[in-house]
Amino acid sequence: MLQRIGVSLEQDLLEKFDELIEQRGYTNRSEAIRDLIRDQLVQKQWAESSQQSMGVSMLVYDHHTRDLSQKLAETQHDHYAEVVSTMHVHIDHNNCLELLVMKGKNNEIEALGEKLASTHGVKYGKFIPATTGKDLK
Ligand code: NI
Repeated sequence: MLQRIGVSLEQDLLEKFDELIEQRGYTNRSEAIRDLIRDQLVQKQWAESSQQSMGVSMLVYDHHTRDLSQKLAETQHDHYAEVVSTMHVHIDHNNCLELLVMKGKNNEIEALGEKLASTHGVKYGKFIPATTGKDLK
């Protein structure tokens, strides 16, 4: 059974959302929102499994933000066994892009990615689930 819900959005955000879904070929907002929800549910399922996997975390932050670089480094050192490789790119005078390749249990590496992304001062953070490739044919 379909349920109707109301969503409140700022005008600017709604216009950008409409542009985005038009580019992706959606004919209405409902279908686009359903797909976004499904995507989140799949990711949640992945995160709750304790299978051994790999993932990539991407972080964008201003390295001038007080204590931020140090906090991010400390979190990574606390999980040195999971963080197998990192790449740091200086985007411009202020901003840094950091990519972390992680290996471990799904739920643990995703939690680590989320912890890094939610560190105060991180402007953009995303965790991308990957695979060790073992189950890929
Ligand atoms: Ni940098």
